Amino acid sequence: MYHYHKIFKNDMQMYLNIRTLSLAIAGFVLFTDFFGLSAYSKDAEKELSPGERFHHETSLTWRGVIGDVFRSKPKKPPQYKNYPDAKIIKLPKPAYRGIPLEEAIGKRRSFRNYSSKPLTMSQLSQLLFSAQGITGKLYDLPLRTAPSAGALYPIEVYVIANDVEGLPCGIYHYAVLNHSLELVKSGDFSKEITAGGLEQEMLGDADVTFVLSAIFDRVRHKYGERGFRYAYIEAGHISQNIYLQAVSLGLGSVSVGAFLDEKINELIGVDGQTEAVLYLHAVGTL
Ligand SMILES: Cc1cc2nc3c(=O)[nH]c(=O)nc-3n(C[C@H](O)[C@H](O)[C@H](O)COP(=O)(O)O)c2cc1C
Repeated sequence: MYHYHKIFKNDMQMYLNIRTLSLAIAGFVLFTDFFGLSAYSKDAEKELSPGERFHHETSLTWRGVIGDVFRSKPKKPPQYKNYPDAKIIKLPKPAYRGIPLEEAIGKRRSFRNYSSKPLTMSQLSQLLFSAQGITGKLYDLPLRTAPSAGALYPIEVYVIANDVEGLPCGIYHYAVLNHSLELVKSGDFSKEITAGGLEQEMLGDADVTFVLSAIFDRVRHKYGERGFRYAYIEAGHISQNIYLQAVSLGLGSVSVGAFLDEKINELIGVDGQTEAVLYLHAVGTL
């Protein structure tokens, strides 16, 4: 009995010591962070380039995290963007079963030369589903193929269709909830997408170019300025899904970060501030 009591007493003391030590470390971190003694404060003293400033100002510190609780944030915009008066094109059910994932990862490459064969609607449907399709639910909240910080899904996907069997050329918005397309603008925009993409010709040659934009307030309303980073990261997740799905479908694709922001924003009809284009992804037959 005495023996157990002794162990209990020693454990209790050990527990108290660890707790005191943890509290002391947490207090020290908070103190140095709050009073600007952390490494970041040294950066703040020197002149930062715009990119360094962006990174610095969206870096998390305890001071920032605590301060953020009291900072006003934008209102939460609607989770789903839609074009109420647009023509709706229902996409075929994505039912393709392709090569093993490991093979797709091993074969993934950027392809910039495409054949003149058009893409099929089934292939387009499969690519869009892999990009942002709904694959599950958290209570009532639909979850998608690509991860999203806080499941807030800031990314919108548009399709610039140049050569898809049975789909007139034009710019379409992917309506994730109904797995369908909404027509934004009809016409051949291969010249405009090439010009906006710094004359990278594969954008005009591709059967489709996916345009990934972000509605920043969807993440900013919760994460503040850090939300910008999350939106960029998420565009990368989506693009990788498109890459792998394209490989599995036997198609070629390339992601494109070099484009004139203003031109592509204008092309899909977004203001470049509340919603802005982050990334392009061209896909074509080989
Ligand atoms: C953020 C990012 C931006 C990119 N931008 C372009 C681009 O503007 N034009 C292009 O032809 N390729 C672009 N790429 C594709 C890269 O050139 C390509 O991934 C790299 O050369 C490696 O080749 P691989 O994808 O075949 O492995 C980009 C890739 C990433 C990740």
